[in-house]
Amino acid sequence: MSDRPAKQKLWGGRFTGKTDPLMHEFNQSLKYDQRMHTADIRGSIAYAKALTRVGILTKEEETKMIEGLEAVEREWTIGQFKAEPDDEDIHTANERRLSQLIGSEIGGKLHTGRSRNDQVATDMRLWLLDEVEDIQASLKALIRVIIERADKERDILLPGYTHLQRGQPIRWSHFLLSHALSFRYDLERLQQLIPRISVLPLGSGALAGNPFAVDREFLAKELGFKSLAENSMWGVGDRDFIAEFLMWASLTMTHMSRISEDLIIYSTAEFGFVTLSDAYSTGSSIMPQKKNPDSLELLRGKSGRIFGHMAGFMMTLKGLPSTYNKDLQEDKEPLFDAVDNISASLKIAEGVIATMEVYGDKMRQALTMDVLATDLADYLVRKGVPFRETHHVSGRAVASAEARRCQLNDLNVDDYKKLHPKFDDDVVQVFDFEASVERRMAIGGPSRKTLDRQISVLRAALQ
Ligand code: ARG
Repeated sequence: MSDRPAKQKLWGGRFTGKTDPLMHEFNQSLKYDQRMHTADIRGSIAYAKALTRVGILTKEEETKMIEGLEAVEREWTIGQFKAEPDDEDIHTANERRLSQLIGSEIGGKLHTGRSRNDQVATDMRLWLLDEVEDIQASLKALIRVIIERADKERDILLPGYTHLQRGQPIRWSHFLLSHALSFRYDLERLQQLIPRISVLPLGSGALAGNPFAVDREFLAKELGFKSLAENSMWGVGDRDFIAEFLMWASLTMTHMSRISEDLIIYSTAEFGFVTLSDAYSTGSSIMPQKKNPDSLELLRGKSGRIFGHMAGFMMTLKGLPSTYNKDLQEDKEPLFDAVDNISASLKIAEGVIATMEVYGDKMRQALTMDVLATDLADYLVRKGVPFRETHHVSGRAVASAEARRCQLNDLNVDDYKKLHPKFDDDVVQVFDFEASVERRMAIGGPSRKTLDRQISVLRAALQ
C-alpha cells in the first residue's frame, strides 16, 4: 500500500516519518464511509455559506466552492469518483477532490474553523435521519400488511397458546394483531429517536467550539436539524444517537424474531396452519420434498446479529475519554450493517406475511374441546359459584374426559351434574368456540367488536 511520507497526508504538516503500510490501511475508513458522500457534501455546502456570512469567503469564492462540491457529488453519483491512496475517509477524499477541481487557493478555505470531529458527527446524523425516514416507511408497510390480513381473516379460529400448549380459542386476526401492536410501538419509539438524532454538531470545531462565530442556527436551518449541540465537547464526542438506534433495532428485531418463530412453528407439517409462498422459501439440496422457511429463519437469525452490533458498540463507547477518539470510527460498520439488515428484514417480513397461505380448517382441527375448560369454569361462575371452586370442577371434568378418552362435550349432562349441582342442560352451550371468542368482548379481546377496535386504533397510529 502507501509507503508515502505522512507529510503528504491532509494532516501531514508535522510529520517527517512514513506511515506503516498496514497502519495506513487500518486507519482508512473510505471503503465504508463513502456511502455518506451526499451527507458530507451537503454539510460542506452549508458550512461554505456560513463562512461567507462571517467574511471568511467572498460571495464569488462561495459560488466556486459550491459548484466544486456539487461537481464532486456528481462524480460520486455517476460512479466516477477516483479515490487516491491518501484519501483516509470520505471527508479528506471530498476535500482533496474539491481542491483539485477549484484549486487549493479557494478549496483550502473550506475547513476553516471546522474539524473532521464536528464534520463526521454531522454527517452521521444527516445520513441516519434519511435512513430513518425509509425505515419508518417500511415499518408502516409491514404493519399495514398485517392489519389487512387481520381484517380479511377474522372468521378463522385457532387455539391460542401459552407455553406452546393449547390454551383458549382466539381469532387468527387476534394473533396477527398482537404482533402488529409490537411493531406499532417500535414505530413510536423510532419516531421518538428523531429529535435526538436531529441535533447539529457542526460548528463545534475539534472540541472547543468555532472561533469565527459561525451562525450555527443558520447551519441548523440549512441542513434541516431540529436543534443545536449546546456544548461543543458533547457535540464531537456524542454517539448516543447511534447506540439508541442500535437498541431500537435490537428490540424491533426481537419482535421480528418472535413472529418468525411463531410462523416457523405454524408452518411445520405437525401444525400445518400456514405455508410460505415459494417466493420466500427454499428447498433442500438432498431432500426433494423439503420447503424450508428460510426467510423467517433469517429474520430470526438477523436479530442476533443486530443485537451483537448494539452490544459491541456499547463496549466501544464504554470507558472512552471525553470528546473525539478514533475508537468512534468504529460506529460506522455496525450502524451501516444494522440499517441495511433491518431495512431488508422489514421488507422481507412484509412479503412473507402478504403472500403466505393460511389454512383455517387446520387451525379449526387444532381446536380440541379442552381449550374450553376455562369457559366451563366460567359457566359455573355465572351461576354464582366462586371461580376457585369452578376451576377445580372443570379440572375434574377434563380428568374424567381424559380417563374415558373422550372430549369434554362427550360427557353427558348427568355426568356434569354429578360434578357440580349447578350444572344444567344448558352446559352444552359452552362447547362452542365461536361463542367463547365472542364472549371475550372486553377491550383487548378477540371478539369481532373488539377486533374492529384494535384495527381502527392501529390504523390511526399509522396516520
Ligand atoms: N474517519 C473519522 C471517523 O469516522 C473522521 C474523524 C477523524 N477525526 C480525527 N480527529 N482523526 O471517526
